[in-house]
Amino acid sequence: VPFGDHRGGAAAIGPETAGILIEPVQGEGGMRPVPHAVPAGSCASCATSTAALIFDEVQCGVGRTGKLFAHEWAGIAPDVMAIAKGIGGGFPIGACLATEEGRGGHDAGTHGTTFGGNPLAMAVGNAVLDVVLAPGFLDHVAQMGLRLRCSGSRELATAHPDVVAEEVRGRGCCWA
Ligand SMILES: Cc1ncc(COP(=O)(O)O)c(C=O)c1O
Repeated sequence: VPFGDHRGGAAAIGPETAGILIEPVQGEGGMRPVPHAVPAGSCASCATSTAALIFDEVQCGVGRTGKLFAHEWAGIAPDVMAIAKGIGGGFPIGACLATEEGRGGHDAGTHGTTFGGNPLAMAVGNAVLDVVLAPGFLDHVAQMGLRLRCSGSRELATAHPDVVAEEVRGRGCCWA
């Protein structure tokens, strides 16, 4: 469905819809925050159907928008979510998180990969969470993001008028 069209999204759901997949802040799509109405409307649609609400927070998750997860800005939560870049802090980790209901038939160990769950990567992920969840860290991300949005982007636009357009998009510390 077209970007931001939550009514179109709701209308597209049928009895054979397995799930709705949303990237709350589109990264490669041009750092476009999806309007809150989309995840909120999709959440309501999933609640009245068998469709699962799935978020791709590989790029926007784990602190980068000023909240632990980008979907928190919309005040709702998914059934299943992919995270990766932020939780690794540079180290290669990916994770698929799910609620009790969202995990379906997956028990611990059934979602296996060659390197999945390895102790080194898990230790790194734990260390990243210690930092990101420390008191004040996420507030600091939001403050720095605001500074970047307000003065930083203007300075960049002034210094590079040939490459910086009028429009500034993003959330937290993710800007384009
Ligand atoms: C939003 C998003 N989803 C998924 C991926 C793919 O993740 P991975 O390379 O961990 O499979 C990326 C990678 O850039 C991404 O930005």
